[in-house]
This record gives sequence, structure tokens and C-alpha cells, in this order.
Amino acid sequence: MKVTSAEFIISAVSPKQYPTEGLPEIALAGRSNVGKSSLINKMLNRKALARTSSRPGKTQTLNYFLVNKSLYFVDFPGYGYAKVSKSLKSQWGGMIDTYLTSRKELKFIIQLVDIRHAPSKDDVAMYEYCKQIGLDTVVVATKGDKIARGRWQQHLKVIRNTLNMRPSDTLIVFSSETGQGKDELWAEINRRLNEAGDPQAATAPKSP
Ligand code: GTP
Ligand code: MG
Repeated sequence: MKVTSAEFIISAVSPKQYPTEGLPEIALAGRSNVGKSSLINKMLNRKALARTSSRPGKTQTLNYFLVNKSLYFVDFPGYGYAKVSKSLKSQWGGMIDTYLTSRKELKFIIQLVDIRHAPSKDDVAMYEYCKQIGLDTVVVATKGDKIARGRWQQHLKVIRNTLNMRPSDTLIVFSSETGQGKDELWAEINRRLNEAGDPQAATAPKSP
């Protein structure tokens, strides 16, 4: 099965705007500029469905993308961007926190970290928070094209250690430039949706 349709649905600023059909949702979290919107575009075979920018802080709302009319990707605002004002930060915190703790449709989180750097304090806090509230997390190391393949393992080890991941926790190298990791991530998504016993899972897209 392929991605046959991908649509931007809404930039939600409040829960009242979240979709109401009860379809499964997967949220993308990570620092500003880590490549969340780029990953969504790559996964959906679209160049600019999710807006990307070299200027951090582009995404500031919960952006809903509907895939094959059966699943939502939810693009989060990036955290850890110094220029975001304090009031916006607390607004962000409140919105994300409410979503993470109370959104029943949310099946799991894809947390993105840059393969080149050790995860930040914010990354660690996010990862630990999701664990604490019982949210399943898939960690994706982005921008795999920026370092030589021969050095991936060394960098993945730093990521695993810093996040205190268990050996069984999933960590996937991704590149929105080359498509590295795209099939693997789709396989992981399908597996998790199926495991959740979700009736929608049968129609979730496989790697295109
Ligand atoms: P915010 O919306 O600010 O939170 O950022 P984001 O996480 O959505 O990042 P975005 O996808 O906008 O990407 C930020 C910058 O990194 C852009 O200039 C992208 O082109 C670049 N980028 C993202 N992914 C990759 C990748 O896999 N490889 C390379 N080389 N560049 C990437
Ligand atoms: Mg973005």
C-alpha cells in the first residue's frame, strides 16, 4: 500500500480545533530546526506540504496532516528555541502538555534528535516526560546525510546513552535529503498501529 493522499487539515491553536473523527494520531516532537516538517514531507512524498525553514521556530501550532484518510501526523512546534518569548513558551508548554496527557487519539510520539549532536536537556526532558506518562516513543536521528555512514553507530551510541534508552527502544537514522530511514519508519508506524489493535491500522499506509 502507498501514500495515496496527504492533506494539510488545520493549524490548531486550541483543542477545540482538533479533528473529531477519532482517527489515530502520531505526533512529531523535537527541537526547532531538527527536521520535523521535513520528515513529514519526506514520509508523505510531498515537497512542501509541511512548511520548513532554516529559521527556527517556523511551526508554532499543532499542524494536522491527514494521511490516506486514516491517520494523522501532528507536527509540533519545536522546543528549545531561545528567541521564543517566555509567554509563548508557557503557552506552548500548556498546549503540548494538555495534548500529550489527554489526547486519546495519540498513539505514540516520534521524537527527533539531530544525529550530529548529543541530545539537549530539552530532548532528555521530553523523552523522560513521555516515558513517565506512559507514551510510547520512537526516536529518530535526523540529518543522517550530514555525517558519514561509518560514523553513525558512534553517534547513535551517544544518543542512546544521553537519553538513557533501553537496548530494545527504537532508534532510526533518517534523512529527508536521501530518504534514508523512510521505509524503516513506515514499517515501525504500521507495526505499532497494528499492535495497538486499532481498526484503522489495516488501512494505514505501508512504505510507498
Ligand atoms: P521548526 O518548525 O522550527 O520546529 O523546525 P523543524 O523541526 O520543522 O525543521 P525543518 O523541517 O523546518 O528543517 C529545518 C532545516 O533543516 C531546513 O533548512 C531543512 O532543509 C533542514 N533539514 C531538515 N532535515 C534535513 C535532513 O535530513 N538533511 C539535511 N541535510 N537537512 C535537513
Ligand atoms: Mg516545522
